[in-house]
Amino acid sequence: MRTFPQSFAFGTATSATQVEGGDVATDWHDFARQPGKVAHGDRPDVACDHWNRFREDVALQARLGVTLHRFSVEWARVEPEPGRFDQAVLERYREEVRALADAGIASMVTLHHFSFPRWLAAKGGALAKELPARFEAYTRAVARALGDSVELWVTLNEPNVLLAQGYVLGLWPPGLQAPHLVPRAVKNLKRAHRLAYAALHELVPNAKVGIAHALRPAVPATRGLGDRLAAALLDRGFNRLFLDLPQDWLGVNYYTRDLVRFAPGRPKDLFMDRSVPPGVETNDLGWELFPEGLGLVLRSLAPRRLPIYITENGIADAEDSRRARFLDAHLAQVLDALADGVDVRGYLHWSLLDNFEWADGYAPRFGLYAVDYATQVRTLRKSGERYAHIIRTRTLE
Ligand code: FCB
Repeated sequence: MRTFPQSFAFGTATSATQVEGGDVATDWHDFARQPGKVAHGDRPDVACDHWNRFREDVALQARLGVTLHRFSVEWARVEPEPGRFDQAVLERYREEVRALADAGIASMVTLHHFSFPRWLAAKGGALAKELPARFEAYTRAVARALGDSVELWVTLNEPNVLLAQGYVLGLWPPGLQAPHLVPRAVKNLKRAHRLAYAALHELVPNAKVGIAHALRPAVPATRGLGDRLAAALLDRGFNRLFLDLPQDWLGVNYYTRDLVRFAPGRPKDLFMDRSVPPGVETNDLGWELFPEGLGLVLRSLAPRRLPIYITENGIADAEDSRRARFLDAHLAQVLDALADGVDVRGYLHWSLLDNFEWADGYAPRFGLYAVDYATQVRTLRKSGERYAHIIRTRTLE
């Protein structure tokens, strides 16, 4: 039997576009209207109707016994036109933070989780010249409204994934396959983060500001030089792209690893093939389940000497046949890392609810609570009960 320290925080994570509904002024709203972009023609228009049901959803969290919740603010709602900040929207987010606090749950607020306001997307999104200054102004508006009651801030969610999906693979908005533009977008996002980081520290005493990094161990498929080089390149060009920015703590989003092969015939995929080893267990989206990878990632970050929060970890599992085991196996990795002295402060499970999984639509089921989209009824899954049990006992038997 092994126990988590009293100070260790358990929680859940969500993002605005994926659960709120009504986020109609975003690039994702428009992208999902283009035929063939999102599986089954699904649209984020209603999602989990969390915008209206947030009090009910806070109660669901309280039932799990969590003490920390990560959610994002929808930029397009807060700033529907450049320079106009909607105070009613900010007040609604204040109410959510207050409802969480009343339930004993601290807030971790993400400022950008994949979706851009339509007006900024029209100017190039991550490539828009004005992105850094606009992001700073928006950050200031949110910091003024919520600053006194937010425990932890995330400026950007997975900027490396945003660029890979949107600007290299073309699977997300703006749907570009234009790797030559990536360096400019990287520079732009880095500047946006730096400005937001400074603004938060100026406006919020003792602000704790991080980035949610998508980290996937890149493993060469063979010992051949080509595969080893490809894996090393992926690690540098993806995992470590945003790791060195100023931040007060490190956010880790961990799902799986990549088996990497050098693929000379595939320039569009940057000459690499990423795959899953044959015969391994996967989630419903075909991602390998590899709990040891979380331990590897945590240990690799330890020398940076910053507190670490696992800002996302979860599984698409419609049958709920693997999620409880998944939780146990990944939390066991966290306990091992803690025992080795790695400064892990909390674990946030992705996700509280089934939700709009970007280009994969509503089919993947990541929730501790199942959502019936026809009725918006939420039902606790068996694995959710398991999570609640772990939180209550703070132990893995
Ligand atoms: C991460 C995203 C999150 C969710 C999970 C499954 O890459 O940050 O929004 O879609 O994957």
